[in-house]
Amino acid sequence: MEKTVLGLQLPTDPRWVNLAEMSLEEILTDHAYCEQKAATSCISLIQRYSTKEKLVTELAPIVTEEWGHFRLVLAELQKRGLKLGRQRKDAYVNALMDFQIKGGPEQETMLDRLLIFALIEARSCERFKRLSEGLDDDYLRQFYRRFMESEAGHYTLFIDLALTYIPEEMVRKRWKQWLAYEATVMETLEVRGDRIH
Ligand SMILES: [Fe+2]
Ligand SMILES: [Fe+2]
Repeated sequence: MEKTVLGLQLPTDPRWVNLAEMSLEEILTDHAYCEQKAATSCISLIQRYSTKEKLVTELAPIVTEEWGHFRLVLAELQKRGLKLGRQRKDAYVNALMDFQIKGGPEQETMLDRLLIFALIEARSCERFKRLSEGLDDDYLRQFYRRFMESEAGHYTLFIDLALTYIPEEMVRKRWKQWLAYEATVMETLEVRGDRIH
């Protein structure tokens, strides 16, 4: 299974970076919550799959890392005299969750739980890459570069975990379906600079 390429079918609309640049407080706030949700979601996976040793061992440090990301973004907001504010509605993640198999056979449910994270990590990574290349500000380009590298590792980790517990054929087939679905979500979502996704 190809694990080095993100595999996303649709690149981000090039207008997005410029829009994001104009609403830095909004984008930092949304980003901060993405990191927070990543940390809490990893905790939920650990709780749900507590008997799966590899999953627990590998996700435990990711919780710390994601929380560290949250703190970095929070510090960036505070340094700039900006406010964290309230959590924003996450239309992207909500749309992805509509595709998730719930209440089916255990293996399928678990696979979707892992693949949805892989997908969110992959898209986040792609977005951070855009920011790290397209922003005018040198400091912010570096800032996002760091996140890009980190999320790229997470994307592969979730795929790896899926391959540990679920037959490769099944993982490969479902991942393709997820990629196709994600492309339709990206197509229908409004391009807005106040959201990471
Ligand atoms: Fe992160
Ligand atoms: Fe991550």
